Amino acid sequence: MDYIITTEHLTKKYKNFTSVNHVSLHIRKGSIYGFLGPNGAGKSTTMKMLLGLTAPTKGSFTIDGKQFPQDRIAILKEIGSFIEEPSFYANLTGRENLDIIRRILGLPKADVEDALELVGLTEFGDRLAKQYSLGMKQRLGLAGALLGRPPILILDEPTNGLDPSGIHEIRNLVKSLPS
Ligand SMILES: Nc1ncnc2c1ncn2[C@@H]1O[C@H](COP(=O)(O)OP(=O)(O)OP(=O)(O)O)[C@@H](O)[C@H]1O
Ligand SMILES: [Mg+2]
Repeated sequence: MDYIITTEHLTKKYKNFTSVNHVSLHIRKGSIYGFLGPNGAGKSTTMKMLLGLTAPTKGSFTIDGKQFPQDRIAILKEIGSFIEEPSFYANLTGRENLDIIRRILGLPKADVEDALELVGLTEFGDRLAKQYSLGMKQRLGLAGALLGRPPILILDEPTNGLDPSGIHEIRNLVKSLPS
């Protein structure tokens, strides 16, 4: 079976509190994997470990056949992500914020317009990020994750703050991405 993400007994402890307890995931390439559980179940913590944002206490994982931690940089090059509330430079416009990420990733300028278009922000691209509504900030976060169309997306509550039609649009957008 062709798995894009596998974890084996992935565990995170904070002092003596266990946040993630022996999680073994097998996620198929090209699939949309819904990671569900009650508040505090450890979903965000698991995703943070996959992105190298917090170290596992125990266990291991591979992403696209690459092993963490030795292949950390190669792994990150393949993932677009959005964890909880995305953060931006408040005094820059949406377009400028995306352009910063684009330059770091070494992508062509057109990718910013592509990402703005994908999330329906083209007409608000020149508004300051601090003047964005909650839903517009979520869309900008999603645009950042989609920059350069990475093969893997890890999205933590990407529809938070969106109106019902926005939720629908983002769902359709994610479903429409090539697998
Ligand atoms: N830095 C930390 N220090 C101590 N405990 C933490 C830390 N980060 C998270 N936790 C705890 O780990 C548990 C899992 O948190 P996590 O944010 O992963 O849950 P979640 O499944 O994403 O929940 P939600 O649905 O509310 O987003 C919670 O009990 C949380 O309080
Ligand atoms: Mg969470």
